[in-house]
Amino acid sequence: MSKKAIAPLALTAVLAALLAGCVKHGQYAPGASAAPAAGAADQALEARVEEMMLTSFKATGIAALDRQIRDEVQKACSSPVQPDAATMQRLEAAQMATIQWPSNGDFTGGDWKEGARIAISGRGLTWTDASPDNNGGGCYNCHAMDPDEVSAGTIGPSLVGYARLRGNSEEIVRYTWGKLWNAKAYNACSNMPRNGYGKILTETQIRHLMAYLFDPASPVNK
Ligand code: HEC
Repeated sequence: MSKKAIAPLALTAVLAALLAGCVKHGQYAPGASAAPAAGAADQALEARVEEMMLTSFKATGIAALDRQIRDEVQKACSSPVQPDAATMQRLEAAQMATIQWPSNGDFTGGDWKEGARIAISGRGLTWTDASPDNNGGGCYNCHAMDPDEVSAGTIGPSLVGYARLRGNSEEIVRYTWGKLWNAKAYNACSNMPRNGYGKILTETQIRHLMAYLFDPASPVNK
């Protein structure tokens, strides 16, 4: 991949990390005792940042500028003041309504080997990709899954032994599908990507990941 493609993505990641750091636990800055209300100066700064973002990038291939537009949930969760409980509930209900349940009623009947490939791949959605299909899920960036895979992130909880430990009741299977489709339905400010809702993964790919998590033959459950 050329430098041209990496630079804007890296900058976006850095900005996102900075924003995430600022809003953690609702504090405006580390050590601040209370989150101040957003004043006129904050709003002016925010407008300047948005302007800078919009004029610093250009649309190329499938990487269009709509990627910069934050929806209601993203705005609320990157605000210096964390959303209150009632707002979280309202946002989660709206995200829940976006979940598409399996069109054929089949939640877990995918191929766990395909799921393993999708879970480890972080490939996709760059401007050189001709089509947004066939992306990776990048799950290992945040989760341990197969205990033999040494390269696993810790932003999310370990999923080692997922179905062995949690079973395969209708409730857990449904929850897991929903979580994979739109993680913000269960925690509005979740760091987990909204794979189905965000058109990162297709329904078939999510079914393969479900098999990776639930199939007794999958290394996740060994
Ligand atoms: C950027 C980090 C990140 C990525 C990438 C990510 N997740 Fe998550 N995931 C999380 C976090 C954080 C949680 C904890 C709950 C929350 O805040 O949403 C979570 C929760 C979950 C849960 C629920 C676990 C439980 O015990 O309830 C499942 C299942 C899950 N992730 C599966 C996946 C799969 C499969 C992928 C890849 C398609 C993936 N995640 C990608 C961060 C991530």
